Amino acid sequence: MFSLKLIVFIAACIPLIWTVSLGFFFGHCPNPIQKCLYGSGEWALVFLLFSLAVTPIRKFTQLELLRQYRRLFGLFSFFYASLHLIIYISFEQFFDWQLIYEDIVQHRRIMIGVISYLIILLLALTSSPSAIRWLGTKRWRILHRLVYPAAIGAVLHYLWLVKLDTSKPKLYGIILFILLSWRIISLARQKIAINRSIR
Ligand code: HEM
Repeated sequence: MFSLKLIVFIAACIPLIWTVSLGFFFGHCPNPIQKCLYGSGEWALVFLLFSLAVTPIRKFTQLELLRQYRRLFGLFSFFYASLHLIIYISFEQFFDWQLIYEDIVQHRRIMIGVISYLIILLLALTSSPSAIRWLGTKRWRILHRLVYPAAIGAVLHYLWLVKLDTSKPKLYGIILFILLSWRIISLARQKIAINRSIR
């Protein structure tokens, strides 16, 4: 089981190696920094959606071993989002904090990206077993439902910044809508079952 987790871990690092190699070495890319900024942002969103897809897939397939990958995918989303932020601060804005502040307050697409990132950061900081013990399972579950607003924010961030072809952010939006609908339906079913057992 450990080796499978290691394989998934290595696979999750491939987008990083792929983006950097295409950007800087093999892709003849005119703007490698931009390639890395876009690549890291897109993979942060993809891993966020992976982490949301784990529970429905686990319920459908009855594969309990999938449970452990939800946190791994969530942490990879945090990793790629942090890389995205670092590239933005250093290579896009050259640590000009005034410019960064203006960019955030003047552009809703950047503002929503920052809000999503802060939620992902909070979720990553509280993802350990000791944080679950500290918060208590019920409070921890409620807090971690924030992953949905984070994903909605990330899709809007993408949608609002593309100028021409909106097909990709729309596709991610549809996937998120399906995952969110599944979550709402399964929560409603749980509540109905609890109410029936009380009566
Ligand atoms: C920390 C706050 C964030 C900032 C300052 C930020 C900034 C940016 C910038 C400047 C771009 C390029 C925009 C352009 O050239 O017009 C971008 C693209 C993008 N960002 Fe963010 N972002 C943030 C957070 C996030 C998060 C949390 C996610 C996903 C979880 C994300 C996903 C994306 C995606 C998918 C793209 C487009 C990539 C593409 O076009 O292929 N960003 N972001």
